[in-house]
Amino acid sequence: VLDTKTIQKKTAGQKAAEFVKNGMTIGLGSGSTVYWMLKMLGEQVDQGLNIKGIPSSLRTEGWAKEFNIPLTDFSQVQRLDLAIDGADEVDPDFNLIKGGGGSLLREKLVDANSDRLIIIIDESKMVYQLGKFPLPVEVVSFGWEVTAQRIGDLGAIPELRKKDGDIFVSNNGNYILDCKFKQISNPKELHNQLKELLGVVETGLFIGMTDLVIVGSGESVKIYEK
Ligand code: A5P
Repeated sequence: VLDTKTIQKKTAGQKAAEFVKNGMTIGLGSGSTVYWMLKMLGEQVDQGLNIKGIPSSLRTEGWAKEFNIPLTDFSQVQRLDLAIDGADEVDPDFNLIKGGGGSLLREKLVDANSDRLIIIIDESKMVYQLGKFPLPVEVVSFGWEVTAQRIGDLGAIPELRKKDGDIFVSNNGNYILDCKFKQISNPKELHNQLKELLGVVETGLFIGMTDLVIVGSGESVKIYEK
């Protein structure tokens, strides 16, 4: 039996698959909501849908292979028709915090190089202001302690992400600092400030990229368009 949140993720993910049309090249996001989208897409591929996907994480690549979704990469395709991805928080301007799963850099490369971005979430991810969810910031492992200090100077409490007691290493060999800010009142400015710091590779703030948000709500969905 699926819990309420999982049902919302499943419904949102399945709905997003309806936006995928024959011949499209699709950016495949990451996370447990995207899982349901991939599963549905796999069924459509089995029924003859002709698409190619670029995965945004190794985990997504594994699921895509499991569901027989044909894959490609940026050596073959310059531009994606549509990217579908999850998020950790979405504000009323469609700004996002991402990277809870640690794939923010690849996700941003995929999402930014797509003509359209659909975000799929459960209801708990809709917020008035970003920042309750600690902002994931991907940093170079060398000297991460110093980079963390500089991020702290911007008003955050950064915490080095660990997994099962070991330092978490991203798909790109970097570390993730989960940065708790008191509030994020200007996401764009904060993103720019962070990007200026030596050692910061990318931030989990996705600004002005999203076109459509699909929110799982009970057994149905709510769709918000820009
Ligand atoms: C992965 O790095 C994230 O950006 C995910 O897209 C985000 O954490 C949402 O994941 P869930 O769908 O598992 O909540």
